[in-house]
Amino acid sequence: MNTQKHLYIETFGCQMNDRDSEIMAQLMAKENFAPTSDIACADAIIVNTCSIRGKAEQKAYSLLGALRKQKKENPNLLIAVTGCVAQQEGKKMLVRMPHVNLVVGPQNIYQLPALFEKAGRRSKGLVVTELSKEFMIPPFLPTMERGLPHKRFVTIMQGCNNFCTYCIVPYTRGREVSRKCEEILQEIIHLVAGGVKEITLLGQNVNSYGNDQPQEQRTTFPELLRLVAEIKGIERLRFTTSNPKDLSEELMRCFADIDTLCPHFHLPVQSGSNKVLKKMNRKYTIENYLEKVEKLRKYSPDITLTTDIIVGFPGEEDEDFQATMDLIEKVRYHSAFSFKYSSRPPAKSCEFEETVTEEEKIKRLAILQDRQNVITKERNEEYVGQLMELMIEGESKMDGQWCGRSKTNHTVNFESKDTFIPGQLVMVKIKSTCQNSLLGELLVKNEK
Ligand code: 5AD
Ligand code: SF4
Repeated sequence: MNTQKHLYIETFGCQMNDRDSEIMAQLMAKENFAPTSDIACADAIIVNTCSIRGKAEQKAYSLLGALRKQKKENPNLLIAVTGCVAQQEGKKMLVRMPHVNLVVGPQNIYQLPALFEKAGRRSKGLVVTELSKEFMIPPFLPTMERGLPHKRFVTIMQGCNNFCTYCIVPYTRGREVSRKCEEILQEIIHLVAGGVKEITLLGQNVNSYGNDQPQEQRTTFPELLRLVAEIKGIERLRFTTSNPKDLSEELMRCFADIDTLCPHFHLPVQSGSNKVLKKMNRKYTIENYLEKVEKLRKYSPDITLTTDIIVGFPGEEDEDFQATMDLIEKVRYHSAFSFKYSSRPPAKSCEFEETVTEEEKIKRLAILQDRQNVITKERNEEYVGQLMELMIEGESKMDGQWCGRSKTNHTVNFESKDTFIPGQLVMVKIKSTCQNSLLGELLVKNEK
């Protein structure tokens, strides 16, 4: 008898969620649930949600709403909601979406197979959203069954202690918990032995890695980076995300010393106005921030800088927005993600009076994005004529072209009749630019 079942996972939000989805897929594979990309034929569906902004949450709800019909047609279908909306809504999710079987918070996904089992035997939905201070991320060695992709994320810590006033993450992911250094190294050794070439260390605020450990056992983030870099077989090493307030000179030095550490830094600034930064509880000033950017560029002159910016935060006046515009001129980010402020209870800022109208937020966002697009294009043009080493991602959407990623995190397409495998390294010379990518010419096929 064929008992093979199919699991469909839809993932919204950040890389933490991507990583959690990967873990859930593997846990469920052990229970005979094969992954499927066809939601209509799934026996179980996981909607892994994000609640960072109102829009992200709405997306999850509209998918869940649409699943009502499928559940009616197939009452045996199991639907689970995981991720940050699950954590935040808990039982309320079942009131709004009674066809959901399971609501599981980010700290509880490790028990997923047992929870699915239990939920399948109940008529009413099951909610497991405990957030504990004592939580430890369980050791988790990814399976190697079907060969690994060439790049993988490795969680080094979970949660956040910063309480930026706009941010819901401390409420959905709990307090900072660092994984043990040995466990992280073991996982990476295992991945690299399976053929993984690029590792991205993942955490909400990687710079405070180890701060929750007793002093005498503590490994700092720069120390961890150096240990990881010693593992043979890693071609490229990256990390994300950092709060500028915790960016230390010791970390900057890593960019000068570690060959495999890719020269790309995502350093979310959020606003160019000290008044707004203070109200956001970011704990740095623009002067501190610019000083750090300057120093970082001394250690790594070729580093690409990217950022996140919020427009229309409560109390943001014209002059504050102008300060953000001035900042992007000063830093000339290679690219920036920008968002309209969205009130996210129970984050503290939901108590602040919203002084910027929706219309004004839309206007400010458009002004910012238009200008940043020009800067990004100009930045891209600086690479024309330069040589870049690419790690192949796969075939490009354009016929006859291949797509790779540079160490600086640029997407680069190039023409070739040859066949490449993901993870392979090639050298190209940059010929021209598009808005979001570069176009290169293949130089040598590197067999590494
Ligand atoms: N409103 C708008 N943008 C937000 N972000 C986080 N919370 C909010 C919010 N309430 C943005 C920040 C953060 C990125 C991941 O999402 O810029 O760095
Ligand atoms: Fe979204 Fe933040 Fe949760 Fe990631 S941690 S899924 S960005 S709310």
